[in-house]
Amino acid sequence: MSLPAINPTKTEAWKALEMHFQEIQTQEMQEIFSEDFLRADRFSIEWNNFYVDYSKNRINEKTISLLLALANEVKLKDAINQQFFGEKINQTENRAVLHTALRDFDNMKPEVKETLNKMKSFSEAIINGNHAGFTGKKITDIVNVGIGGSHLGPEMISEALHFYRNHLKTHFIANIDGDDVVEKLKTLNPETTIFIIVSKSFSTQETIANANVVKTWFLQQGNESDLQKHFVAVSTNEKGAREFGISQNNIFPMDDWVGGRFSLWSSVGLSICCALGYKNFEALLKGAFEMDKHFRNEEFNKNIPVIFGLLSVWYNNFFKAESEAVVAYSQYLHKLVPYLQQAFMESNGKSVDRNGNKIEYQTGNIVWGNVGSNSQHAYFQLLHQGTKLIPTDFIGFSKSLHGNNKNHFILMANFFAQTEALWGGTHNKKVDNSFKSFEGNKPSNTILIEELTPENLGSLVALYEHKLFVQGIIWNIFSYDQWGVELGKNVAKETLSAIENGDTSEIKNNSTQKLIAKFLKNRT
Ligand code: F6P
Repeated sequence: MSLPAINPTKTEAWKALEMHFQEIQTQEMQEIFSEDFLRADRFSIEWNNFYVDYSKNRINEKTISLLLALANEVKLKDAINQQFFGEKINQTENRAVLHTALRDFDNMKPEVKETLNKMKSFSEAIINGNHAGFTGKKITDIVNVGIGGSHLGPEMISEALHFYRNHLKTHFIANIDGDDVVEKLKTLNPETTIFIIVSKSFSTQETIANANVVKTWFLQQGNESDLQKHFVAVSTNEKGAREFGISQNNIFPMDDWVGGRFSLWSSVGLSICCALGYKNFEALLKGAFEMDKHFRNEEFNKNIPVIFGLLSVWYNNFFKAESEAVVAYSQYLHKLVPYLQQAFMESNGKSVDRNGNKIEYQTGNIVWGNVGSNSQHAYFQLLHQGTKLIPTDFIGFSKSLHGNNKNHFILMANFFAQTEALWGGTHNKKVDNSFKSFEGNKPSNTILIEELTPENLGSLVALYEHKLFVQGIIWNIFSYDQWGVELGKNVAKETLSAIENGDTSEIKNNSTQKLIAKFLKNRT
């Protein structure tokens, strides 16, 4: 079975949405709210510890029913079932897309269980000191060496759940920037550090180069035989890991049906498991599993990822909004946006449809943002008074983890105030001059969660994973490959040989040739 491949612009619903857009594009949300006191009840979803309000959007009942009709016309339900049943929906790589199987506690695959058990015993031995370093000292630091999906997810979760962490310090070496590696190693002691080399392919240039740097650094004090106490690998390429010098016992397997940017739930999450303990890692998975069930079983009109995906299509394709912002009102979530950028932009930055044809409509939007309230003092001016329409997700928590309520009330007052100000602007208010006038009518979603726990974070991340799936199905693209990244990797290899040999004759572009020549000259 393959995914339905329907051009969304040819559906009846799309045509109806185009006409509907003409009616609604100039409507002001301020007026709509003043005439409809039950709007927030109708356009909101209560689910577990989440309250999701999407009433501050440029929509009415008809918009939602047409968007739902679009979802049905492109056979979204069928596509969701195919994903969860393990059909090879990543057709261009001939792979299933089953990160949800990593957290399916009702029906867990034996190999997933086995890997989880291995992660549990490894992390517990490190945490309780049974696994010591080569001089008998307890392990104090864990370093994740990996890039892209082998970095962003683990780092985002470790930061987001900092409150739940144990004594182990975690570090992330991702960038090939040699200065960064040196800076990170400066703070570490080889006797008490474990390096987790995370690479699904075990061939990513940056990761292998950095892994070699840390290995050389380690061997200045330890012996080859000590490597097994300090180096582990997470990979589908066990041969590559063994050739690097990692013992078979220290290799945590991965399955090819787990895409890099969806892999934090797999053994790629080993650093998370060490830093938070297995119990918290499992709670994270369970939270994601809850969201999976919601996505799979809930009617589309009460289904959070479906509604979010549809709203995003509404703004992207009808309002022509090019970007979306995500602003989390929690400093713990300061790595959420970089994580989402890879998830969304590597998945949906595509311009060929599932039939292999060039696409004539807009697909993947730009995702950006940062934490609130800091963001308010940086780019919010543009959200409020700029010329661009930027739908924004606001994420906040009812309880603060350390109980500093005074600050938390101020933080959350800003959280609510921003959605209010974006919506209302200075509508119907007297202002001194036009510079001080705010149109308002700016859309936002609000995700209010009880508390930042591992379970709730798991649900939140899964929500966004499913949202991007919904977008990809509607846009008729393959969300699970990333051929565009591969081109850059190949060009970088050719460029490196030009730099190393000091010969730019094979470089095609004259500007690049001159730049490299200048670079080489500056170094002499
Ligand atoms: O950025 C491209 C990419 O292939 C990502 O999809 C992946 O997460 C990353 O590189 C790292 O790949 P690997 O885990 O194989 O080193």
